[in-house]
Amino acid sequence: MLYNNLRFSKKQGGRINMAEVVLKKVEKQYPNGFKAVHGIDLNIKDGEFMVFVGPSGCAKSTTLRMVAGLEEITGGEIYIGEKLVNDLPPKDRGIAMVFQNYALYPHMTVYDNMAFGLKMAKVPKNEIDKRVKEAAEKLEITDLLDRKPKEMSGGQRQRVAVGRAIVRKPEVFLFDEPLSNLDAKLRVSMRVRITQLHKQLKEEGQNATMIYVTHDQVEAMTMGDRICVLNYGKIMQVDTPLNLYNTPANKFVAGFIGSPAMNIVKASLISKENKLFVKLTNGDELELPKEKAEKVKGHVGKDVWFGIRPENVGNKNTAKPGDSSLVGKVNIVEQMGNEEFIYFFIGDAQYTARIPAEKSTGANFNQQENFYFEMDKCHLFDIETEKNITI
Ligand SMILES: Nc1ncnc2c1ncn2[C@@H]1O[C@H](COP(=O)(O)OP(=O)(O)O)[C@@H](O)[C@H]1O
Ligand SMILES: [Mg+2]
Repeated sequence: MLYNNLRFSKKQGGRINMAEVVLKKVEKQYPNGFKAVHGIDLNIKDGEFMVFVGPSGCAKSTTLRMVAGLEEITGGEIYIGEKLVNDLPPKDRGIAMVFQNYALYPHMTVYDNMAFGLKMAKVPKNEIDKRVKEAAEKLEITDLLDRKPKEMSGGQRQRVAVGRAIVRKPEVFLFDEPLSNLDAKLRVSMRVRITQLHKQLKEEGQNATMIYVTHDQVEAMTMGDRICVLNYGKIMQVDTPLNLYNTPANKFVAGFIGSPAMNIVKASLISKENKLFVKLTNGDELELPKEKAEKVKGHVGKDVWFGIRPENVGNKNTAKPGDSSLVGKVNIVEQMGNEEFIYFFIGDAQYTARIPAEKSTGANFNQQENFYFEMDKCHLFDIETEKNITI
């Protein structure tokens, strides 16, 4: 972009109002010698909602805590709003963090919990009062301001924790699995609330760069402007939710994003009469449409990982011209009401098909059934590098 190199920062109350967060070759080796983060490069844009997602132990928290300044950086550089922050203490980084366990002061009222950081920062009393009341209104906790944390539900406590972050008007909000302690229904409503908050703060002209850590791919998909998928302290892919879903860069992202998960099985790529086929381990073959075949022809004769999402596996009622069909043996059928998930076997490999309720054939345990594969939607991954060779 033209203005990419243009340094522009709005000053407001002496504060630089640019809040991009840049990680350059960031590493973390813990004192016991364990290397948790292996050189992360990432640009989080000003005002962006970035989600870090990945399985437990992949270093989401470690990375976030390095941005916060709660964990020392052992390699590389972190910039917040163009300022190198490697050696800055947390309080000078312009960040506010919300934790899974709320971390509220138990002996203080909601009001005092929210006001505490501002008092420490010597913000004038009337300004504190204004900010606390505004934040309370945004989060609909005005009538809770006199309560103590133990007199509230988990969801209310988490709203207070978010409120405490808002009043500080940080340049960057950091969330570490803030909804993990809430029940499923509350998680959904808080998820929407945080997404709304992000939009609202931006509309009000406040900085609202947010970095949100979760192991839950549904949260990641629904909340993120972009998602950074991590595994073993490395970035697997950074992209918008839809791009991750439709064009996963590798087998890990393909299997991690999407529920029920993509079917991924070992297979080989063979050529017959000028056509390419995916040959499954039981000997069954699925023809690849021309466009896909063109992309993967360099891999003919090799083993591959064959991936296809459950919604791209159907039955005779959903079949489209061009689909390839194979006989499978039905194992379990899960009824969702609006759709059913059919788990079936071809050879030793189990697959999932996702069928809209009105298209059900009533398939049942142990029955043989024809399953239709939308091969133009399939993905093939290199057996060794696990990179997607179909995009
Ligand atoms: N203080 C520590 N000392 C040594 N290893 C640690 C320490 N804290 C975390 N780890 C390890 O670093 C890895 C990443 O941890 P963490 O960032 O907490 O993962 P996540 O938040 O993705 O679950 C894990 O293997 C964890 O065991
Ligand atoms: Mg964590």
